[in-house]
Amino acid sequence: MSEIVLEGTGLTRQYGGFRALDDVSIMVRRGEIRGLIGPNGAGKSTLIDVLSGRGAFSRGTVKLEGRDISGLNARQRRLAGLARSFQRTNIFGDLTVGEQVHLAARAAEAENAGEVMEALALAPLADRRAADVSYGDQRRLDLALALVGRPRVLLLDEPAAGLTMQESLTLAALLRDLAQRWQVTVLIVEHDMDVIFAICSSLTVLHLGRILVEGPPEQVRVMPEVVTAYLGSSVA
Ligand SMILES: Nc1ncnc2c1ncn2[C@@H]1O[C@H](COP(=O)(O)OP(=O)(O)OP(=O)(O)O)[C@@H](O)[C@H]1O
Ligand SMILES: [Mg+2]
Repeated sequence: MSEIVLEGTGLTRQYGGFRALDDVSIMVRRGEIRGLIGPNGAGKSTLIDVLSGRGAFSRGTVKLEGRDISGLNARQRRLAGLARSFQRTNIFGDLTVGEQVHLAARAAEAENAGEVMEALALAPLADRRAADVSYGDQRRLDLALALVGRPRVLLLDEPAAGLTMQESLTLAALLRDLAQRWQVTVLIVEHDMDVIFAICSSLTVLHLGRILVEGPPEQVRVMPEVVTAYLGSSVA
């Protein structure tokens, strides 16, 4: 069994009287690409927030490579090797593609902006304003901002949202190759099952703020409780 690189225990976040995340525990092993799926409002983004140290106080502990990072803020967690992307892209339209990757590299105290731009085919776009490149390019830029510094764990919240099926699969293949080459462990939120099946080694299904099931994608897909959870939601 390979080493557990990311471990969340008893993670709970409450908004008023509503528990968006209810006592969730999750372990991700080194080298995994773990899919995090579930209907709209299941708590997927909330779990990514809690793991990455974003937002209001929450209960539970988060360990990165065995070290308790619960007391660290998002920036400190990033410097410790845990990076994330957001469900809506986090880019600034007025800056050039190159400027943004360099800024992210500086924030992550990393020197591999050029390497990341090459790997994500952004180098030819370095001098273009981010607002002027295609949506697909913006999505790769967003991934680049999370990948500078080669984090050991990467949390991705719907990195392929809004892309066509072909673009999504291309991005997914790129991600899988980079994760392997740079030894990045990935936890990825994704609605598209084709993308999930193309890259994920295991799945965690969230429903109503709790973990419904975990397991290999081909097993999880046919579990009755998973099918029921999805049929009861707006997700097709
Ligand atoms: N800041 C907030 N204040 C109040 N409620 C919130 C807040 N953020 C999220 N919620 C609620 O918490 C629940 C979980 O939201 P979350 O965004 O984590 O779901 P999700 O699984 O990422 O959904 P989606 O697939 O639509 O992105 C939802 O019911 C949402 O309305
Ligand atoms: Mg979400």
